[in-house]
Amino acid sequence: MKILSIESSCDETSAAVVEMGEERKILSNIVASQIETHALYGGVVPEIASRAHSEAISRVTYEALDRAGVTLDCIDAIGVTNRPGLIGALLVGVNFAKSLAISRNIPLVPVHHIRGHIAANYLAHQGLEPPFLALVVSGGHTSIIEVRDYVTFNTVGRTKDDAMGEAFDKVARVMGIPYPGGAEMDRLAALGDPKAFNFPSAALNDGSLDFSFSGLKTNVINVLHNMEQKGMPYPKEDIAASFTAAVMGSVEKKLKAAVNEYPYKRLVLAGGVSANSHLRACLKTFADKHGMELFVPPLSLCGDNAAMIGAQAYYEYINGVRGESSLNAFAVSDT
Ligand code: KG4
Ligand code: ZN
Repeated sequence: MKILSIESSCDETSAAVVEMGEERKILSNIVASQIETHALYGGVVPEIASRAHSEAISRVTYEALDRAGVTLDCIDAIGVTNRPGLIGALLVGVNFAKSLAISRNIPLVPVHHIRGHIAANYLAHQGLEPPFLALVVSGGHTSIIEVRDYVTFNTVGRTKDDAMGEAFDKVARVMGIPYPGGAEMDRLAALGDPKAFNFPSAALNDGSLDFSFSGLKTNVINVLHNMEQKGMPYPKEDIAASFTAAVMGSVEKKLKAAVNEYPYKRLVLAGGVSANSHLRACLKTFADKHGMELFVPPLSLCGDNAAMIGAQAYYEYINGVRGESSLNAFAVSDT
């Protein structure tokens, strides 16, 4: 079946057409990024995001249909991200999808953003099926999730404060790197010494599978401010490499505990930070060591995009999930 999907939870307006069934195919996936606008402010400004979504959503949706070579008459269902995210941003996508669905009498399917990130892997790996363990790392989330089947999720570990992507972005910002600094931190870390600084772990030491990035982030920022006050030039590459090493150490520790408790044979990486080359390498080593099969999304599907929402919408649809005309959006929602 052909699904038109819409994603507007943060700073990307995206629409896609996917064909789902035995095979999972992306027919089009249009992403209009607002990053340049928000970079002026050092982070996403919610009000500006909502307005930019309103301006772009119609054009982006019709471009997705055009590129896929289909019209609304060929669409069997409309999937839309309705949770979690910036509430004003989500409402733009939800109301647009609702209008299309009601006016054309097409079934509407609400999709959880994080479920969508995980589903990006279904599009890239035809053989991938639940159950598996997933690590979802984005600008808003850091979670270890037991994916029992396509629509049954159990979050077994989460961050108590900042998300991994947020920590990358905030440390980058203090080093003068424009928002979002995650990708530049990735590049710098490859050039530095991961042992130059000994930063604290983000893995909570309480026997849980939870993370806390705020202590690590504050520690790095304090070191930076200290060196700045003393007029010492700080090596950005070494800071990025040492920060990344601390993050990877935390991931390894929590994943090890998670696999002990939930001994799945497949490990799936998802979310914007899954583009990080050090994280991809770290997970490959981890999976090999623990005899697990690792699935990572291609770089084109790591960040926010509507194709991943369409893929998850299919599984929600065949499990009977429908959005009514009263469908709402939610800023916060468990997976
Ligand atoms: O999933 P995503 O596009 O949006 C959210 O749902 O939050 O994730 C965006 C986050 C940003 O924090 C960005 O800096 C981070 O992903 N990111 C990276 C890399 N590429 C994107 N973080 C580290 N290394 C990267 N290569
Ligand atoms: Zn995301």
